[in-house]
Order: sequence, then C-alpha cells, then structure tokens
Amino acid sequence: MKICIIFHSYSGVTRGIAEKINSACRGDLVEVTPKDNYSTLSAYSVGCFRARKEACDPISPDTIDVSAYDLIVIGTPVWAWKATPAINGAIAALEGCQGKKAVIFATCGSSAKDTLPIMKSALEKKGVRVCGEVTLNKSEISKNEKINDLISVIREASNGV
Ligand SMILES: Cc1cc2nc3c(=O)[nH]c(=O)nc-3n(C[C@H](O)[C@H](O)[C@H](O)COP(=O)(O)O)c2cc1C
Repeated sequence: MKICIIFHSYSGVTRGIAEKINSACRGDLVEVTPKDNYSTLSAYSVGCFRARKEACDPISPDTIDVSAYDLIVIGTPVWAWKATPAINGAIAALEGCQGKKAVIFATCGSSAKDTLPIMKSALEKKGVRVCGEVTLNKSEISKNEKINDLISVIREASNGV
C-alpha cells in the first residue's frame, strides 16, 4: 500500500503533522507551495480573500501524479474557515487520481468550518473517494491523541477496500 501525503503549510504546523504521519505510515511527502509566496499581510488579505472564493493558486509542483499510489492523504491549514488557495491548487493539479481513496485533514486555530467539505467536493469531482476526515485545532495539535486518531484513520483507509 503506497501512500502519498500532500500538504500545504504556511507556518509549519500542517508540515509537522504531515511529517508525523509519514514517520508512522512511511509514505511519500509532497509539499505544495504557492508560486507567489504570501507575506503575513497578504496571507490575511489576499490569501483569505482567495480562500473565501475557493480559488486555486498556481503552485509548485505544477502537477502531482498520484497514479502510483493506493491512498492519498491531503492536509491544509484553515484560512478564513476554508481550505487554502494552495491546497485547492494542489487538488486541481492531481493527475492519475480517478478511483483513488483519500484521507483529508485540516489544522486550525479554533474552527475549520467549510474546509473539509470544500476539499471533499473538489476531490469527488476528480473521481476520488474521501474515506476519512480529521480536523485538529490549536489545543489538539500539541497533543498526541488526535494525531494518533488521524494516523489510525489513515491506517484503516490503507487496509480497507
Ligand atoms: C491567513 C490565515 C488565516 C487563518 N484563518 C483561520 C480561520 O479562519 N479559522 C481558524 O480556526 N484558524 C485560522 N488560522 C490559523 C491556522 O489555520 C492555524 O494556525 C494552522 O494550524 C496553521 O497551519 P500552518 O502552520 O501549517 O500554516 C489562520 C491563519 C492564517 C495565517
């Protein structure tokens, strides 16, 4: 079972979770970055505006071919209660994903609200079946319990049909 762990991280939290998943599940990590980097000011202005519109940022890498993987894990920070424009761009950039399974997760301060439904809908439009969803808020990020829950969801998804 090959796992591709795709994530965007502006300030390092989501990257830390993705790395913990990778240590536990031994997949391949793909970090997505917006081609036009955000400053703190532009993240809260332009970035949140684009997140609210559910826009896709141009990203590096340009495309993400997941045809060699059995399970896709995708993680995003929450911006303005939505997925980041970079992770929207990452989902748009997926290739070879038709018929694959995915587990999605979000890290946030307090509320992820629309984030996971947005990602799920975009993935389903590309023929990906979302079989696990986990949100980690600020207090849960520093504890192992919720991270272990996420790892369990990923393990179950990678063992299931
Ligand atoms: C531009 C911006 C917008 C944010 N909007 C929200 C929000 O709407 N709700 C929330 O709970 N946290 C929000 N946060 C907090 C982040 O989602 C949270 O700190 C996340 O874990 C950061 O992940 P990262 O370090 O991987 O970028 C926001 C942070 C930034 C920088």
